[in-house]
Amino acid sequence: MNVSVFGLGYVGTVSAASFASDGHAVVGVDVNDDKVRAINEGRSPIVEPGLDTLLSEVSAAGRLRATTDTRDAVMATDLSLVCVGTPSRKNGSLDLSYLVRVCEQIGEVLREKSGYHVVVIRSTVLPGTTHDHVIPALERTSGKRYGDGFGVSVNPEFLREGTALRDFRHPPLTLVGHNHAADAAPTRALYDGIDAPLVSTSIRVAEMMKYTSNAWHAVKVVFANEIGNVCKRMGVDSHEVMDIFCRDEKLNLSSYYLKPGFAFGGSCLPKDVRALQYRAREVDLELPMIGHVLESNRLQVQHALDRIEETGRRRVGLLGFSFKAGTDDLRESPMVILAEALLGKGYELCIYDRNVSLARLVGANRRYIEEQIPHLSRHLCDAIPDLLATSEVVVVGNAAPEFSEAVMQCRPDQVVIDLVRIPLDFSRVQAQYDGICW
Ligand SMILES: NC(=O)c1ccc[n+]([C@@H]2O[C@H](COP(=O)([O-])OP(=O)(O)OC[C@H]3O[C@@H](n4cnc5c(N)ncnc54)[C@H](O)[C@@H]3O)[C@@H](O)[C@H]2O)c1
Repeated sequence: MNVSVFGLGYVGTVSAASFASDGHAVVGVDVNDDKVRAINEGRSPIVEPGLDTLLSEVSAAGRLRATTDTRDAVMATDLSLVCVGTPSRKNGSLDLSYLVRVCEQIGEVLREKSGYHVVVIRSTVLPGTTHDHVIPALERTSGKRYGDGFGVSVNPEFLREGTALRDFRHPPLTLVGHNHAADAAPTRALYDGIDAPLVSTSIRVAEMMKYTSNAWHAVKVVFANEIGNVCKRMGVDSHEVMDIFCRDEKLNLSSYYLKPGFAFGGSCLPKDVRALQYRAREVDLELPMIGHVLESNRLQVQHALDRIEETGRRRVGLLGFSFKAGTDDLRESPMVILAEALLGKGYELCIYDRNVSLARLVGANRRYIEEQIPHLSRHLCDAIPDLLATSEVVVVGNAAPEFSEAVMQCRPDQVVIDLVRIPLDFSRVQAQYDGICW
């Protein structure tokens, strides 16, 4: 393919050299003369292991050249990769001025270019940026309509500086966000030489995916450091702890616990996070991230309450009462906290949970209901149809399999608020459906 790469910084130079080495004809573009000259002399403008050698090879083979002339680059290619910087402004917002400028420059050339041209955004941009800034800038300057004359896709970058060339060859996945198949095909074709899963999605999901990854990486670093700091104060070898921690690929390093939904609860997580926080305070250590986990969890219950209040209805049915399906343990269940908040605000409540009925419970759990939450026990009902008959709002609080069918039986006048993303056949859902965070 004939490809132009705008912005010859860390991302652009690695991408340009690697695409050229895969056989594409690449033109690099930068406003900085020194970077353009370096590339044309087969030298790397940035420090990155192996890049000098690769650049001298692809330049000598005539597959990569660089220019400051946007017109030359756009006219000579069918696809432009945008890799300019998107730095932080003082207030934390994204500075999009380089991105918008480069799109305007490309658009001005597209005005006189015939043939379909695809603009691929590789810079990191927040969801909505492509629709609100990139496409308008291209339309305004080219006089053409998006999808008719030019296309746009989003192809975030997952390389790490220092191992960028190896990461380019072996990425975890290649992500292409697009709205038109005509834009996806050429973007995907860039990666024909790369052996990695290719994931197609919408532009907004692709934009958000990059922030989700980077936020997660940042959380991992801070989490490990907070654990390390508390370990050191307690005389425990943090590396041994984390080595063993990382061997658990079922719960620790896995997709488990990583689906947006409701607050955590139960007899372990809240108690144990609290105890760790307490111990950290005893040894005069701040754990800013772990220390805010319970507050974030409390806010998720508040979000559910807000959603219910926004409906303006007063009769609420709760499907699920324990902290997760398949248990009768009510200790620190966020559904119990939600029920108490609703009762406090005068809502009429009906609560159903197959595992939590006074008729069936014995021992500690029965005592818990009778002694700790007697005010809630009289709102428990014994059958889903009773709950559906009386509730204006139906809240799904855990993923018991019978709740899928219950939601699909709700009437069109009922509102369903799903806290757990219960599996549903949406062609059968008649009620007004709302997910807590989707
Ligand atoms: N550095 C990384 O490891 C990395 C990894 C993933 C994603 N990203 C993202 O990729 C983007 C680029 O990052 P970077 O570190 O390569 O940036 P960088 O600052 O190293 O390079 C950006 C280049 O764009 C050039 N430029 C600016 N305006 C231009 C224009 N109008 N025409 C042509 N060139 C222009 C600049 O001169 C500069 O050389 C950012 O959005 C960043 O968040 C970076």
